[in-house]
Amino acid sequence: MKITHTPSVIGAHITEVDLARVTDAEFAHIESTFNERSVICIRQQNISEQQLIAFARRFGSVEPHFLKHYTHPSHAEILYISNIKENGKDIGHADAGSVWHTDMSYTDKPPRATLLYALEVPMDTVSGKALGDTRFSSAAAAYDSLPADMKQRIANLRAIHQVAGRRAKTGTGQQDQALRLSQPAVVHPVARTHPFTGRKCLYVSKGECEGIEGMAQDEALALIDELADRTVEERFRYTHHWQVRDLLMWDNCALQHLASFDYKWPQHRRLMHRVTVGGSATI
Ligand code: SIN
Repeated sequence: MKITHTPSVIGAHITEVDLARVTDAEFAHIESTFNERSVICIRQQNISEQQLIAFARRFGSVEPHFLKHYTHPSHAEILYISNIKENGKDIGHADAGSVWHTDMSYTDKPPRATLLYALEVPMDTVSGKALGDTRFSSAAAAYDSLPADMKQRIANLRAIHQVAGRRAKTGTGQQDQALRLSQPAVVHPVARTHPFTGRKCLYVSKGECEGIEGMAQDEALALIDELADRTVEERFRYTHHWQVRDLLMWDNCALQHLASFDYKWPQHRRLMHRVTVGGSATI
């Protein structure tokens, strides 16, 4: 197995391993690289739905996704991320990740990790380049970069996360509004401690954070925006250029991510299988 770090502060590419039959020693390396680099791409995998779920389960629990109408018919743990339409309807979540966010921060135990397995990747027929890059930014490096007085200011603050929150008013995330509204708001530390590395990570996003406990709304939204902007500064980023059969996996405490929508149905098809690995209560 070969592990190559990207030039960024996050990210690693892993090759020469078969996830259908990964050994315990290989898994230990993959897991430690994941904790250290926050986003890893394991290339050229040929795995079934069961093998994808089984690999994810080595990192923690895997549950069915609540957006039931976009899940795999035989494997409710797999959410389709796709722009493909059948009979005029989206087969999957078509605008997932259209704002910077961390997955399911609106749950009380947000997922440790998200796995995205690329089955169809849109290509620009002129340049031959892949479309639909996914961008990542390090919330741990962003925290480290804060001045001491800001670290002190946010040390004991808790932000309110709601999936149907501010994002619902900005045009995305509206299609599933009824389901989203069924998820009650939760609170998490603004500076969250990583459950595996112990590093502090900024844990606020403009899309889902509606306020900060005990703080006036104007002041809270200004602070959320300032910290969210800091989290996604260019210097903390890695951009993933997809290849078919990539298994990409990211850490939902240590970073935020953003999808790009430079491809269009029906010229381009994008199909990914997404699985989330359960996490723990935030501290
Ligand atoms: C997501 O945000 O879960 C999806 C990211 C992507 O499709 O690139």
